[in-house]
Amino acid sequence: MYPSMKISGCIFDMDGVVVDSAKHHFTAWKMLADELSIQFSKQDNKLLKGLSRLDSLEKILSLGSLELDSKTKLQLMDKKNSIYLYLVSKMGENEILPGVKDLILELRREGIGVCLGSSSKNATVILKNVNLFNLFDGVVDGNHITLSKPDPEVFLKGAEILGLSPSECIVFEDAASGVEAALSGGFFALGIGDASELSSANSVVTDLSGMTLKKLNQITG
Ligand code: BG6
Ligand code: MG
Repeated sequence: MYPSMKISGCIFDMDGVVVDSAKHHFTAWKMLADELSIQFSKQDNKLLKGLSRLDSLEKILSLGSLELDSKTKLQLMDKKNSIYLYLVSKMGENEILPGVKDLILELRREGIGVCLGSSSKNATVILKNVNLFNLFDGVVDGNHITLSKPDPEVFLKGAEILGLSPSECIVFEDAASGVEAALSGGFFALGIGDASELSSANSVVTDLSGMTLKKLNQITG
């Protein structure tokens, strides 16, 4: 049982929590995998949740038992990202996941700090495309960290921006690696998605539709 806390800050993972971007990651990785003649399914794509771009590529290469040099890997990542950026340039507010915007607006009204903590290096462009960027007090993404989740660096930097300690913040995460990062940083980890995949989280909800500060207080209380 987690000791009851006063929620002063909320740190949101982006992909799979704030926006429905996994499908765009999948389309882009799939094009690359096809070119490399590697079988890559939607199920395989789930394994990439929360992993950095390089770790994702390594995982795909391992599915095809392919070993490549660093230069080729960089070229492949650039190629994947160009496709991905094209796809996310078409994203709109309709790809914000259910309940997220209303929750963030309520948190802001109540004076709760709101920060992003994402492994993606594309967070700023995506948040701007879906018109959410201005609602965050801070954005920490893959450009600001040296260690990927499950290391807690991304969330610790978020808490620092909010001027809060981890014990005052909830982390919203859809990936097991992100839940692990939150827990090892001393945050309350709220898993978003399938409870069987996020069993180590302090609590799990299917999605954020209808989520309110009152409900968050009940969950953490
Ligand atoms: C994470 C996603 O948020 O960001 C991963 O869950 C993705 O699937 C990672 O690989 C890196 O994203 P990007 O946008 O920097 O390639
Ligand atoms: Mg995620």
